[in-house]
Amino acid sequence: MKAWISNAFGEAPKLIDAPDPVAKPGQVVIDVRACGVNFADTLILKGTYQKRPTGPFSPGFEVSGTVHAVGDGVTHLKPGDAVMALPDWGGFAERVVTDAALVTPLVGDVDFNQSAAFQIAYGTSWFALKYRADLKPGEIVLIHGAAGGVGLTAVECAKLLGATVIATAGGADKCQIARDHGADHVIDYKSDNIRDRVRDITATLGQPKGVDVVYDPVGGDVFDQSLRCVAPGARMLLIGFASGTVPQIPANILLVKNVTAIGFYFGAYLEQNPDVACQGMTELLGLLKSGAINPMISAVYALDDAMKALDAIRDRSATGKLVIRV
Ligand SMILES: NC(=O)c1ccc[n+]([C@@H]2O[C@H](COP(=O)([O-])OP(=O)(O)OC[C@H]3O[C@@H](n4cnc5c(N)ncnc54)[C@H](OP(=O)(O)O)[C@@H]3O)[C@@H](O)[C@H]2O)c1
Repeated sequence: MKAWISNAFGEAPKLIDAPDPVAKPGQVVIDVRACGVNFADTLILKGTYQKRPTGPFSPGFEVSGTVHAVGDGVTHLKPGDAVMALPDWGGFAERVVTDAALVTPLVGDVDFNQSAAFQIAYGTSWFALKYRADLKPGEIVLIHGAAGGVGLTAVECAKLLGATVIATAGGADKCQIARDHGADHVIDYKSDNIRDRVRDITATLGQPKGVDVVYDPVGGDVFDQSLRCVAPGARMLLIGFASGTVPQIPANILLVKNVTAIGFYFGAYLEQNPDVACQGMTELLGLLKSGAINPMISAVYALDDAMKALDAIRDRSATGKLVIRV
């Protein structure tokens, strides 16, 4: 099979003829049709992601395609079934192997691009906002990086949960994307101070001290400013650090304002909470099927051009989701 393989952290992957993966007991080999691109693909290549492969590997955490082969003990899937899956890595390839538990059958009309682009971004936002932050109708939520992969889905999920959304993004075009996807208020953090603008906006909403929930995939100064415009009792979701700076949280501010900082890691959450995971993914598939959520795929790349997709993530030109079509 053709696969983008990196032999060591920090080494640029090369598109090579690689050995076909084999399904061990409990595993499934998938003929990849599409692979969603994530910021985390850039991190795993550097060796700075939570998961660190040993030996040669491909990036690619979310795929759709058809089952090629199943290992012993896999009974709910068979070759030819259309599926989406969350492999540990390896999706930038014609075939990938993964645990059967992380493979979801696709029924009805299948859009492989949408299925591949859907799982991580919506999963992260839905579980974080609904199940970790317990976002309630009428609450005000501040969402950063709101034109990016997870940020944009957070805007949609928060609106579905009945919240008022204040979205931040860098530049007028990205702000417009957040607005088009339902954000009630938008702050361009390239030109505006987040803390001051949030306080102005929440004052007009009758809540001058700030927002109830923060959803932060950016970190750094964006997190620091957010901590200064939250209402007493607020919940702050730590989603990621796209800025490259992991926030150091001053505990005294959490204490004085009764603020809760909540870590959220989608992959681990699914493993640790299988019942909630099943319920939430069923809810999300229902929302996708009904059209209530609609993944914004801004660009589709051929497998040969997969590195261009990673460049777009790194240089911040990407919006919504990028997909590799295999
Ligand atoms: N916790 C979880 O389970 C989970 C799941 C998925 C993703 N994440 C994390 O969430 C973050 C975003 O992931 P994503 O896939 O949504 O990425 P993405 O599509 O590239 O979006 C990241 C956004 O961050 C903003 N940003 C700010 N500083 C940046 C910088 N120096 N370089 C690149 N982007 C920067 C950009 O928006 P502006 O240009 O508008 O500032 C960009 O749209 C990553 O840290 C990722 O690891 C966590």
